[in-house]
Amino acid sequence: MEALLVIPGPASRELGLRVARHLKCEVIDVAFKVFPDGESYIRFNGDVRGSDVVVVQSTPPPQDSNLIRLFLLLDNAKRLGAKRVIAVVPYLAYSRQDKIFLEGEAVSINTIIKLIEASGADYLYTFNIHSIDIMKRFTIPAYNLSAIPVLAERLKYLGFSKAVSVAPDKGAVKLVEEADKVLNGGYGWLEKHRDRVTGEIRMEAKEIDVKGKDAVVFDDIISTGGTMAEAVKILKELGARRVYVACTHPLMLGNSESKILNNGAEGILGTDTIPGKFSSVSVAKVIAESLSKLG
Ligand code: R5P
Repeated sequence: MEALLVIPGPASRELGLRVARHLKCEVIDVAFKVFPDGESYIRFNGDVRGSDVVVVQSTPPPQDSNLIRLFLLLDNAKRLGAKRVIAVVPYLAYSRQDKIFLEGEAVSINTIIKLIEASGADYLYTFNIHSIDIMKRFTIPAYNLSAIPVLAERLKYLGFSKAVSVAPDKGAVKLVEEADKVLNGGYGWLEKHRDRVTGEIRMEAKEIDVKGKDAVVFDDIISTGGTMAEAVKILKELGARRVYVACTHPLMLGNSESKILNNGAEGILGTDTIPGKFSSVSVAKVIAESLSKLG
């Protein structure tokens, strides 16, 4: 592999710098501004010709602007002669619209995939994608990394070793299987039903024993906090001693924090796939380790 260069995009500047530190590789600084009319401007302060270039740019809100910035970064790297362009998009926006739920809807993630590929990405890395099936829709090599082990390690450090790992729905069972390898307290899941039109959530506990035990709910994303708040409430009703919530992508919209904490959660943990108040766990090392395996 050529020496890697890291280009930290405006949505993931800190994470990009951390990845470069782990890889001990050079950083290409990006001059970035937004014009008065809202259009984005980027310029590379450095030469990428002939190098393998890692563009680190997540796509949290404002998703559409961050996506355009991602496309500009990828396309610029390609145009300026990068040998291979590796897109690291820790949070891939629009992943939740991955199929037709109501007739006539756009399958938004398919459009985003086409645009990432058309912008010049030769590889794609992301984290805990909403549905693994999305990865198969890329024509370039695409890798779904997991932040669950690093989240579980932090929870162990916070005193949640032997906690029961709980998935708020069947879709998250794979996450708790991974978490349990670190926490070793067993795992289980809840049944979630969401009204597609109103967004209202109903949850039922299936076979799960948390009475008198600590529990940690793991999910890919916290958006409005409705899912986690409901999961915390049920676990407390089932007699859990302490409940923590952890997710890879802490979108944390509106009053999500108070919704979750008011239902009795001890705390909320997330990663820097989306930087913010709940992003204390970094995925930089996970990215660096994966990139170093790229041939
Ligand atoms: C859905 O299946 C996802 O895994 C999350 O559970 C969901 O997107 C979280 O959304 P919210 O925080 O709005 O309930």
